[in-house]
Amino acid sequence: MTPDQIKLVKHSFAQVAPIADQAADLFYDRLFESAPGVRPLFPDDMAEQKKKLMQMLATAVANLDRVEEILPALEDLGRRHVDYGTRPEHYDTVGEALIWTLGQGLGEAFTPAVEEAWVQTYGTIAQVMKAAAAEVAEA
Ligand code: HEM
Repeated sequence: MTPDQIKLVKHSFAQVAPIADQAADLFYDRLFESAPGVRPLFPDDMAEQKKKLMQMLATAVANLDRVEEILPALEDLGRRHVDYGTRPEHYDTVGEALIWTLGQGLGEAFTPAVEEAWVQTYGTIAQVMKAAAAEVAEA
């Protein structure tokens, strides 16, 4: 990721932060509509899950310019997701729902450059998580 992309992600995430609850609602509605099969992996009551997702995203975004510092946390997260029943292909579905949600939340501020910066961000996080998960699966 370029420094400009990191700036775009931080700036746009700050714009979404005040509507984090609605964004999380939109995100999971979209995810469960596009991939109903993953709904059973999650608890019935999604309130806690929504908070955890937004917190983790906030941590990742805040540390984008020093990703190496959060690598171990992301690898742990990826390994825990194996136990949650997450498969590699789910990451694309989740990524699509995330990008769509950002588009909804940001409106006109969701320019092609902002979108590309988020695709890179999600791709980076997902790649680290999937690589750590694959090592568990092989062990
Ligand atoms: C960048 C990608 C992702 C991030 C940042 C993320 C973040 C999180 C966080 C922070 C938790 C809370 C529990 C913990 O810390 O271990 C969690 C739980 C969970 N995630 Fe993810 N996740 C991602 C991708 C996915 C994908 C692709 C799936 C597949 C459907 C998924 C399904 C789940 C499930 C089922 C739980 C456990 C719910 C429960 O039983 O409480 N996540 N995720």
